[in-house]
Amino acid sequence: MRRAKVTAVGAYLPERRLTNADLEKLVDTSNEWILERTGIRERRILGRGKGSAYMAIRAAEEALRKRGLPAEAIDLVIVATVTPEYPFPATANLVAHALGAHRAWGFDIEAACSSFLYALSIAADSISSGRVERALVIGSDKMSSIIDYRDRATCVIFGDAAGAVLLEPTEEEVGVLDYLHRSDGSGCTYLHMKAGGSLLPPSVRTVRNRLHYVYQEGRQVFKQAVVQMAAISEDLMKKHGLTADDIAFFVPHQANLRIIEAAAQRLGLPREKVMINIDRYGNTTSATLPLCLYDYESQLKKGDNLILATFGGGFTWGALWLRWAY
Ligand code: ACO
Repeated sequence: MRRAKVTAVGAYLPERRLTNADLEKLVDTSNEWILERTGIRERRILGRGKGSAYMAIRAAEEALRKRGLPAEAIDLVIVATVTPEYPFPATANLVAHALGAHRAWGFDIEAACSSFLYALSIAADSISSGRVERALVIGSDKMSSIIDYRDRATCVIFGDAAGAVLLEPTEEEVGVLDYLHRSDGSGCTYLHMKAGGSLLPPSVRTVRNRLHYVYQEGRQVFKQAVVQMAAISEDLMKKHGLTADDIAFFVPHQANLRIIEAAAQRLGLPREKVMINIDRYGNTTSATLPLCLYDYESQLKKGDNLILATFGGGFTWGALWLRWAY
């Protein structure tokens, strides 16, 4: 049976760090509150004049370099992002062009924090079907471009970054083995951006009223995230008779350390089996999952079972079973 395996991972992290001490100067908050409530110490911020494509290109270039493949070998580029370079065309087109992936087609996927996992699933299916040979799946978000640095409830959480995975076909029983995804549009109330779309296009009024930023009712999102991320991971594991002992790593979306710990506890997974890097990058939306794979790559070995899980605005959520291939 033909499957899609991950053969390389790349990442891009902007150099500028925004620490909790920096945020203490911007809003009424404290290092203690941020650490205790979110587990975040610092995040990265991309400077003005650069967008999501800039980070996506660099992450993808690293993945290709590590695998020793030219960009012409790629036939599909999917960029997962809530902060595209432009409303249109798709960031993926710009990225493919800059990489020199002239044979590729591409598009963006927007499913808030679940964007990367949805994109990975679609790319894997494209490869399994035989239509695509090699795909780049890139999660890239410049969250600082849609964060209100006067709103203490959101500005402490988010950061900028990109991560990329290269997918190639395999006949072995490795790679993307299965996934389950869900969405529920009633969750829009609790997590959305009020203006900038076709309903409320940008205007002097929308800018004055600060409507072009992430709006979040954190407590509601928190509860849903813990329950749904654990439940869908459990469903996927049960479907395949997997227990906590079979899992090498749980790879959760990095939204809040408390959400990660609560979800892992529900799944009966000890801390050493959970990928965590939220302390250094915050919530980078579409980049959290590939960034986890990137940071833990040296600890992974062929045959390791990983459960990737996510929860985000929409609401959107899902889990994916990935068996490491190298
Ligand atoms: N510093 C100090 N106090 C703060 C801060 C801050 N940065 N932010 C909020 N507070 C205050 C609030 O005003 C509130 O004060 P009050 O009790 O006097 O009203 C108090 O702290 C508690 O507020 P809560 O919102 O209940 O705090 P909570 O413990 O829930 O933490 C947080 C807030 C971090 C946002 C949390 O709810 C969370 O992580 N939610 C989920 C986020 C998530 O998963 N998002 C999904 C992905 S994002 C995406 O898809 C784009």
